[in-house]
Amino acid sequence: MSPITADRVWRHIGQLVTVTGDGPAELGIISDAALAAHAGRIVWVGPDTEVDKSITPSPAAIVYDAEGRLVTPGFVDSHTHLVWAGSRAAEFHERLSGTGYTAQLGSGRGILSTVAATRTASEETLFAIAMERLRACLRYGSTTVEVKTGYGLDFATEDRSLRVIERLAAHSRATNGPRIVSTFMGAHVVPAEYRDSRTKYVRLIVDKMLPAFAGRARFCDVFCEDIAFDVDESRAILGRAAELGYGIKLHANQLGPSGGALLAAELRAASADHLDHLADDEIGALRAAGVVATLLPGCSMTLREPYPDGRRLIDAGLTVALATDYNPGTCACENMQLMLSLACLNMGLTIEEALRAATLGGARALRLDHEVGSLEPGKWCDLLVWNCASYLELGYGLGASRLHQAFIAGNSGLSAAAL
Ligand code: NIG
Ligand code: FE
Repeated sequence: MSPITADRVWRHIGQLVTVTGDGPAELGIISDAALAAHAGRIVWVGPDTEVDKSITPSPAAIVYDAEGRLVTPGFVDSHTHLVWAGSRAAEFHERLSGTGYTAQLGSGRGILSTVAATRTASEETLFAIAMERLRACLRYGSTTVEVKTGYGLDFATEDRSLRVIERLAAHSRATNGPRIVSTFMGAHVVPAEYRDSRTKYVRLIVDKMLPAFAGRARFCDVFCEDIAFDVDESRAILGRAAELGYGIKLHANQLGPSGGALLAAELRAASADHLDHLADDEIGALRAAGVVATLLPGCSMTLREPYPDGRRLIDAGLTVALATDYNPGTCACENMQLMLSLACLNMGLTIEEALRAATLGGARALRLDHEVGSLEPGKWCDLLVWNCASYLELGYGLGASRLHQAFIAGNSGLSAAAL
């Protein structure tokens, strides 16, 4: 009898993409494979022919027949803004006829429209809306989702947004939904009431919000950009956040060369996200500091701006993550499968690199790569069963989902019927 006990076994996996190995394009593929899990964690992967001698199923074990399908790790969407109310559909269409994103913000709309709508929404309303969005994330294959606050921008509404994220996490745990990672982003923009006293808003974050929310949010993120917070303000906020135990993230160099990338390197941030405007020395600094470069192709598509050159970042040796940046202004899309397509079509990534960036890359951006992001013994059994036999089908279909079933900690989070 094998010493490895399993309460879940997937047999007859046509192609198992484990995402193990070191290179940026390595997928660690096993053909005609099987995977076994116990108590939510993977205990064994290997050729299907070796299952019987390697695994002892527990009495109540469930054995799934993948019928030759592709199996991959669940996507790790490491950058989303799910908690907000209102709609910016009209602003989206207005931009298509020429008004700029920055101009909308300058006239008190953009992010500030969403802040106004979010402040008037109850916790129940925000929870229901965010839950709907989270379900959509899972329908497209995200089994871990980072969720930011940042549409409250006052103590009460940031606190309420954080509570909504905590409730999302609890509800998701109870219903086999995605794992949730919470991020405090009170430094999204300066709210209207502090327009002429921005230093006071930075002090409110540093002195009141950060200490109060420490331990509730895993990360602190700042929008380091001309239209939001400059490098000194961002450093003051993130430096205090680091002292209080938050992990660090930055929205950096999106709309211009903001200095955010160098600050991310200085602070050894977990990730620097966007990176549309990046000089060679900034790439070198990010690599030396081990900062993950998170690419958000849905934003470039929505803003109709040139895409960041992902190829250049991978060739320079950076770890790249791919995420949706789901938000009301620059990417109203929860679909990680579409992000794979966009990264391949517009950022110079191969499908192998894109798939790795959407799984293990995202896990690294959340400092969770010891738990999720690849299919190997010891990690959580978060996996996707696809309606196709090869990973080459991913990134190829545009928009429609090819997902068959999603499992989180070995339990079905989503049945084929729910798709
Ligand atoms: O990640 N860059 C800053 N924040 C969001 C956009 C927010 C919005 O427009 O509501 C982003 O792109
Ligand atoms: Fe964002």
